[in-house]
Amino acid sequence: MTLGIETSCDETSAAVVEAGEKVLSNVISTQIPVHRRYGGVVPEIASRQHVEAIVPVVETALQDAQIGWDDLSHIAVTAGPGLVGALLVGLSYAKALAYSLSLPLVGVNHLEGHIYANFLAHQVQLPLLCLVVSGGHTDLIYMPDHGQYESLGHTLDDAAGEAFDKIARALGLPYPGGPEIERLAREGNPQAFGFPRAWLEPDSFNFSFSGLKSAVLNELHRFEQKGCSVPVADVAASFQEAVVEVLVAKAVAAAQAKEVPILYVAGGVAANGYLRTSLTQVAAEHGIEVRFPPLRLCTDNAAMIAAAGYHYWRAGKFAGLDLNAVANLPLTNWK
Ligand code: KG4
Ligand code: ZN
Repeated sequence: MTLGIETSCDETSAAVVEAGEKVLSNVISTQIPVHRRYGGVVPEIASRQHVEAIVPVVETALQDAQIGWDDLSHIAVTAGPGLVGALLVGLSYAKALAYSLSLPLVGVNHLEGHIYANFLAHQVQLPLLCLVVSGGHTDLIYMPDHGQYESLGHTLDDAAGEAFDKIARALGLPYPGGPEIERLAREGNPQAFGFPRAWLEPDSFNFSFSGLKSAVLNELHRFEQKGCSVPVADVAASFQEAVVEVLVAKAVAAAQAKEVPILYVAGGVAANGYLRTSLTQVAAEHGIEVRFPPLRLCTDNAAMIAAAGYHYWRAGKFAGLDLNAVANLPLTNWK
């Protein structure tokens, strides 16, 4: 059984997963209420919160799974990317546990963790194609086998979730902005504003959201200068429409290019209901099925880290006690 530990951003999480696919427990202690008053994650506060939460969160994960320390076969921990001070808390604790329990330690990339959330929800056949959309990433990743990653495209500037958070902040909505924009957008007109879509060069699977962000901020300034109140729901709906349209078109085009029958989606933005329905609909028109993790496994959690870690363990890819936290850890092949 794998013990997974995740502390890369503002969730302290620990999970017990059997054979990389069966979640026995998945405890998530979120810091969102603490960071909300600052409008975003404050790294130093995140580290301190992780220090307070890590021991009870891990103990609860074992209790919920109704297992003891002896039942664990290895420990998987997020080594990056993320906030370095936050990562270090989970990493140091995982190393101390691995040392004291004489268990193998594996270091997991947070991004591959998001992809592996799908293994907890579906019978996944490799190769797979996954659209990873989170607060830190917007990537189209092709995975021929466990531990092998081919990047088809990535964002050249802001991540999709980051754009949601920044626009929400400009609209005076609380952190995190994604769910708030989604909620408001339901009451707005997605065609009210023709915000730009960055398609980039033809056939490119890269993304760019900074032009869209600037266009929305400029629109908000125009309302401010005229002294008019902002039609917040229309702005939210038009912004969401612009993000989702590009994500959907590029993800479906990538699935066609790779000739995969199923497209997987992962990361916090995969919780967005409008993305889920649009992508499912458009992909179906091209004979492609779309699969998402359940909402709780889209945003940060340790079960996904344990699911990925299990495959490192099976392949004997253990980390030493010198494993370090790397803020911008790239997703590299380990097999
Ligand atoms: O995967 P995640 O929990 O953390 C990172 O690895 O970044 O993703 C968090 C991001 C935030 O930017 C948040 O606003 C976004 O996911 N998010 C959403 C929704 N729920 C979370 N974005 C759009 N719609 C949502 N429903
Ligand atoms: Zn994440």
